[in-house]
Amino acid sequence: MSSQVVASCPAWTIPGFLEVRDNHLSINGADAVTLIQEYSSPLFVFSEPRIRANIKRLQSAAKAVDRPIKFCYASKANSNMAVLKTVLESGIDVEVNSGGELFKALRVGFKPDQIIFNGTSKTHEELDQAVRAGIYSINVDSVYEIGLVEESVLRLREAGETVDRARIALRLVPEIGTRSHLGLQTALLTSKFGISASEVLDAFRRGLQNPDLVHVCGIHIHVGSQTPDVEPFAEAFKSMWDHLMTIHRETGHTLEHINLGGGIPVNYLRDRSQANDLPEHERDMLGADLEPATVLSEALRVARASARDAEAEHLLDQVTILLEPGRSVIADAGLVLTTVRNIKRRQETGDVWLLTDAGYNLMLSMNNYKWYYHLISASRAGEQQGADYKVAGPLCDSGDVYFDIERGGRLPDYRKLAAKVEPGEILALLNSGAYSLAQMFPYNGRPLPAAVMVKDDSSALVIRRRDTYEDLLASDVW
Ligand SMILES: Cc1ncc(COP(=O)(O)O)c(C=O)c1O
Repeated sequence: MSSQVVASCPAWTIPGFLEVRDNHLSINGADAVTLIQEYSSPLFVFSEPRIRANIKRLQSAAKAVDRPIKFCYASKANSNMAVLKTVLESGIDVEVNSGGELFKALRVGFKPDQIIFNGTSKTHEELDQAVRAGIYSINVDSVYEIGLVEESVLRLREAGETVDRARIALRLVPEIGTRSHLGLQTALLTSKFGISASEVLDAFRRGLQNPDLVHVCGIHIHVGSQTPDVEPFAEAFKSMWDHLMTIHRETGHTLEHINLGGGIPVNYLRDRSQANDLPEHERDMLGADLEPATVLSEALRVARASARDAEAEHLLDQVTILLEPGRSVIADAGLVLTTVRNIKRRQETGDVWLLTDAGYNLMLSMNNYKWYYHLISASRAGEQQGADYKVAGPLCDSGDVYFDIERGGRLPDYRKLAAKVEPGEILALLNSGAYSLAQMFPYNGRPLPAAVMVKDDSSALVIRRRDTYEDLLASDVW
């Protein structure tokens, strides 16, 4: 008998990808309950078709504007090798934030000119790796770091290696705020990132001092993650464009690219009913629906007007625009399946507590930022999700809960699930493909879970094996 997709779909469903079939959650036709039976719980599940569709959406947005656009997937969001391979095969480039991510990007097959390298505190070894590889751009975070890149080129040449001059871009911090969480905003002067306005021109002059060692090819601003509005992007682009024109006027140097960073938001709140008790601004931010095409065309519109005023349109015509999308590629392509392991009914408060096997060791941002991941019952996905539960993970501290224990209003106090949940029931935390697998850790001696990738034909491939107890000992010396 073929499986049935339910007629009236819950708000979290995405046709062809996240559906209800036979009352179970189905991911590209793969049954969530069967996946848990086969691969055990907890389990990360990714959809290859959804990753490809998300990248296609970005590529279509690029067609809406008349400049070359280079997308560099922010691998910090998820650098699993199978995920990187899917990104590579989809035809976009990559952003790395450490020597380790650079190593992974090269190993999976990205060419050096497809790689850009961000980071505030790169080591000499990491800079040597990047210079040796000859990547598209090392994004320097301070004037001091320009000297470090130069030293790296000299060091390698003195050691007898043949290396080209390093391509660098300067990361700026222009004091642009967004409506995201403060910890996710990166263009404020109070953040740790970038070169401030008062230093920019000197920084460029410094970068142009030794053209045999470094070539200043670009300028970069990342306003932050999950930016719900178009204005900060446009403001950042305008700021970089104005600097580009000033640098050209003052030094005659032309930059090749403007890098607008990441931050295109993901709609974490397809079903707003679960989050009714969150403040409106939080719901607006989490439920943001900003088209990448809007971001690009608005940024260019503002820059074009400024270029016209300055009679410098020819400069804009020479510029490639970079974007560093992370969560907009991978967040809604991944989810965590978890099993209810324990239950308690507290007479004094009237609360029913569900204790799962997925804590903040898997979903660090649920604890760090009190980030909202929509929770559904995967075993009874088609049923009314109207009963209130306190939900918590397995870790040994009180903060390992699916609500905001500090009462900051960022998470709902109760999660709504099907009535009469019992131990053994499988739940799913949706939209959890970004900044989760990449940040998990084996706290409390919990071996890290497996991850599978569901393909077009509904088959699931293991893309990360489940750790064993022996893995817990692998790095200890005793
Ligand atoms: C420099 C930089 N670029 C890109 C990103 C990716 O952001 P997002 O995942 O919101 O697209 C980040 C995330 O923190 C970042 O720091």
